[in-house]
Amino acid sequence: MIVMKNINKFYKLDQEKVQVLKDISLEIQEHEFVAIMGPSGSGKSTLINTISFLDGDFEGDYKFNGEDAYRYNDDKLSRLRNQSVGFVFQAFQLIDNNTVFENVALPLLYGGMKQKQVKDLVMEALTKVGIPDKYNKYPKQLSGGQQQRVAIARAIVGNPKFIVADEPTGALDSRTSEEIMNLFKRLNEEEQVTILMVTHDSEAAEYCKRVITVKDGELLEEGVLHAV
Ligand SMILES: Nc1ncnc2c1ncn2[C@@H]1O[C@H](COP(=O)(O)OP(=O)(O)O)[C@@H](O)[C@H]1O
Ligand SMILES: [Mg+2]
Repeated sequence: MIVMKNINKFYKLDQEKVQVLKDISLEIQEHEFVAIMGPSGSGKSTLINTISFLDGDFEGDYKFNGEDAYRYNDDKLSRLRNQSVGFVFQAFQLIDNNTVFENVALPLLYGGMKQKQVKDLVMEALTKVGIPDKYNKYPKQLSGGQQQRVAIARAIVGNPKFIVADEPTGALDSRTSEEIMNLFKRLNEEEQVTILMVTHDSEAAEYCKRVITVKDGELLEEGVLHAV
């Protein structure tokens, strides 16, 4: 599904060019559940932003389902991102003034979908994450774990084949993290969703079938779970 070859990326700081991704080659097959680990500042978020069509400013070769999607025009690229990728972040990134229902419905509203279908899909997603009864609440009325469930419902509501999660358990206690990881595991096994997750938490990484380590912008050999 994902094939990266010799990806290099630079940020310009003042006059200086800083290399944040160094010759990264990586393949991820459909239905994989992959953890990316590594120290803070090593380039993990930059790498997944590149993979998930948020940042096309890099050198090298990247193909998603055989296509060089970053060559698409902006409209086609946003459509691909909207339809193919579900995003989950550490800080949940919900809209506080919207209800749970409205937050989850958001990705569907870009597509001009009918009201009834929106309602069915939102309730189905909330049921999958175990909080259908919370649809009318506001994010601030929920616990951290429940808020992350809402964010996951929003990520899966359009039935994307691919979920990208950047430290999804970073703001959660260990018991709640375990619940969220079990939810990802179920989505991976039962719904065949491909999941790519950045984490600092080796317990969370143990749910993944494959662990990749990034250090100083370089991809290290796989499986060095306890080295960081
Ligand atoms: N927009 C940016 N402009 C300049 N430097 C950045 C930017 N984003 C990230 N960096 C730098 O790139 C490096 C990698 O960052 P990041 O990918 O966020 O690491 P991680 O997610 O592993 O903590 C860091 O040194 C960070 O300071
Ligand atoms: Mg990061």
